[in-house]
Amino acid sequence: MILLSIETSCDETAVSIVKRVRGKNIRFEVLSHKILSQVDLHAAYGGVFPALAKREHAKALTQLIAESLEEADLLTERTNTYHLPSSSRKKLETLLEREGEMLSAMKILFEGVQKPLIDGIAVTEGPGLEPALWVGINAALAMHLVWDLPIYPINHMEGHIVAGALSCIDNVYEVSTLNFPACALLISGGHTELVRISKLRSYKVIGRTRDDAIGEAYDKVARMLSLPYPGGPEISRLAERSRKEGLIVDDELRLPRPMLHSGDLSFSFSGLKTAVLTRIKKRGPLTEITKQMIALEFENAVTDVLVAKTKQAMYETRANTLIVGGGVSANTHIRFSLKELAESESFDLFVPDKSLSTDNGIMIAACGLLHIANDISPKVKLKANGSWSVEDC
Ligand code: KG4
Ligand code: ZN
Repeated sequence: MILLSIETSCDETAVSIVKRVRGKNIRFEVLSHKILSQVDLHAAYGGVFPALAKREHAKALTQLIAESLEEADLLTERTNTYHLPSSSRKKLETLLEREGEMLSAMKILFEGVQKPLIDGIAVTEGPGLEPALWVGINAALAMHLVWDLPIYPINHMEGHIVAGALSCIDNVYEVSTLNFPACALLISGGHTELVRISKLRSYKVIGRTRDDAIGEAYDKVARMLSLPYPGGPEISRLAERSRKEGLIVDDELRLPRPMLHSGDLSFSFSGLKTAVLTRIKKRGPLTEITKQMIALEFENAVTDVLVAKTKQAMYETRANTLIVGGGVSANTHIRFSLKELAESESFDLFVPDKSLSTDNGIMIAACGLLHIANDISPKVKLKANGSWSVEDC
């Protein structure tokens, strides 16, 4: 079983090709893994600009698919001239009528290479930026149309959950055996959620942010500190430096821990962002030391809240396992703090390898294999769903 996966929900165009390896658990080998990041382009806007994201995905995706097939040794060029049958060509033209550039690239691909020996496509259908999601979905539909490949639509947040549960030895990945019930803490640019997991594929959102996502807060605070996009790694770097130097945060730069005592599992980060702005305005010119103090205090504030809410969620759900996922899970301090919590509360902790924390195709492919193992039927009618909850996937 060989699956090709596509991820275009935000600002990374990612394609992976994986091959299922026999065994009880879901195990697979990665034949190809490619990620094209658009961060340098979006940096000028201080955040992801949807129309630009869509355009860049459309420009890059077909080539990335071809390169992935080649890397996986699945690309056979045709030796004779071949033209798509007119019915397929017309359907393809209708499907991609608003994606002129991708249509030309896809035609060249379909006419230039033979149908590859893959068994299906896993593609992110949501949540995310809808114009960006449509690019991946349309590419998958085009491959369904011409190569008759089944499509498994994947929820991006389930992708982050499964990424957290993956272990890897010698390029063979495996979905770890988990001690259920479990909780997932999903922390990314678009989400901050606590999810109860009775078993994989059965998810219930038990807490979420009322306003900004944590990654969004990182990115906005970074912008206030004149740090480049994406701000998460930049703030983390400054905060780590402050910790190493034993820097003490001035009282006037102390920040609140929003929702810490709300008693429920909700988060809120927009007030924290405003609090940072107020401190900056009061403080005057932003020196390097002030930036370091704010980065440290901000990171400590969000971590305190994440740890407290996660602890509460673990109690309330009697969970034995915590899975952490999403771009912000790459953060060193948050990882360390959750590890301390897991040790003191004696639960199993799964965090993704740093390379799988941010958006990637491996997590989408792994979900595809999970769906197949659970006999979930492929779909032919797909629709980008920007706000698709993991609960409904
Ligand atoms: O999951 P992801 O790649 O994309 C979404 O699905 O949103 O997450 C991207 C987010 C960005 O907000 C970025 O600033 C944040 O993850 N991020 C981090 C770190 N690395 C990425 N935040 C804090 N610390 C990091 N090391
Ligand atoms: Zn993500």
